[in-house]
Amino acid sequence: MTENDFLPGDYQNLPEKGKVTWKAPSNIALVKYWGKRPVQIPANPSISFTLDACATTTSVSFEKKNTKESFSFDLFFEGKPKEDFKPKIQTFLERIEIYLSFLKEYHFTIETSNSFPHSSGIASSASGMAALSLCLMDIEKQLNPKMDASLFFAKASYLARLGSGSACRSIKGNLVQWGKHLNIPGSSDLYGIEYPFEVNPVFETYCDTILLVHKGQKQVSSTVGHQLMHNHPYAENRFKQASSNLDNLKPILANGDLEGFIKLVESEALTLHAMMMTSMPYFMLMKPDTMEIINKIWQYREETNTPVCFTLDAGANVHLLYPASDKEKVRDFIKDTLAEHCENGQYIHDQVGEGAIKINN
Ligand code: PMV
Repeated sequence: MTENDFLPGDYQNLPEKGKVTWKAPSNIALVKYWGKRPVQIPANPSISFTLDACATTTSVSFEKKNTKESFSFDLFFEGKPKEDFKPKIQTFLERIEIYLSFLKEYHFTIETSNSFPHSSGIASSASGMAALSLCLMDIEKQLNPKMDASLFFAKASYLARLGSGSACRSIKGNLVQWGKHLNIPGSSDLYGIEYPFEVNPVFETYCDTILLVHKGQKQVSSTVGHQLMHNHPYAENRFKQASSNLDNLKPILANGDLEGFIKLVESEALTLHAMMMTSMPYFMLMKPDTMEIINKIWQYREETNTPVCFTLDAGANVHLLYPASDKEKVRDFIKDTLAEHCENGQYIHDQVGEGAIKINN
């Protein structure tokens, strides 16, 4: 699909009012997206596990206005008006207006809530933009009932990308790939696709425990981090490496090669943070407890032969990845050994999920 496929249809009989609700999950990248050009076109392809428990639920109520000049909206976060989120949503809606021409006809009330702490390094913008995009697509579907499911989900992912790049990977389930890759049929810079190759069942139920090392605001936002990949001395090699890693991941995912998976995923995480540390200006998002946790994971893996590994987002938190069959012993390890490095001892048990769902009002 191209940009033209996402232009709006000719709507008739706009409803006076209505309400839609979607719940969209967060995602955790295995091969990381870091570096982009306008607007959220990735410098390299990426792939992520879609999560399950970490999610945003968003309702959009819409009511027709008398004037058709521009859209308007109110925003509630966890039940309270949230003025400081509004500029981001305003920019997003302005950006996607040409793809959803009904926007200007309505006043929207957007109510959103997360199952996890905001700005904890868990991609709240990913699940948030995905949930909002799905709500808006749901309204478009009411105006154009013939729209098929593949266009519906591809356009939802396309819109979500315009809100926050990695959000385009939070629509569908299990494994989602985003960014043009010569060897991945159907791959696109414009939206995420369900990973089209064989995946061993071990990865369909993989667990991810998010160790909340630092729940505060990040020192450097990912927007700034992406920018710093321009003129970065290692950027070109990094972008090539991400593409090769997607090739390398194919047999690993097909065969359930956990050893190969661990090497690739941990290397991707550390490379992402190495890019941050070698930017100009340089910065570091890992905290001492991030390092303590990583060392303890390595030690535990060596001593017990349990296939646990870590990955990192653009933050200090650690995602501990492991097969569901090792759940019990790994969760004991977390409780007994890793929890002491988490802020207030907090962590969230999550696992690979099926993608966003519609909630009936
Ligand atoms: O979608 P953004 O702009 O917040 O960037 C997210 C980038 C990483 O989380 C660090 C990697 C990724 O691919 O999700």
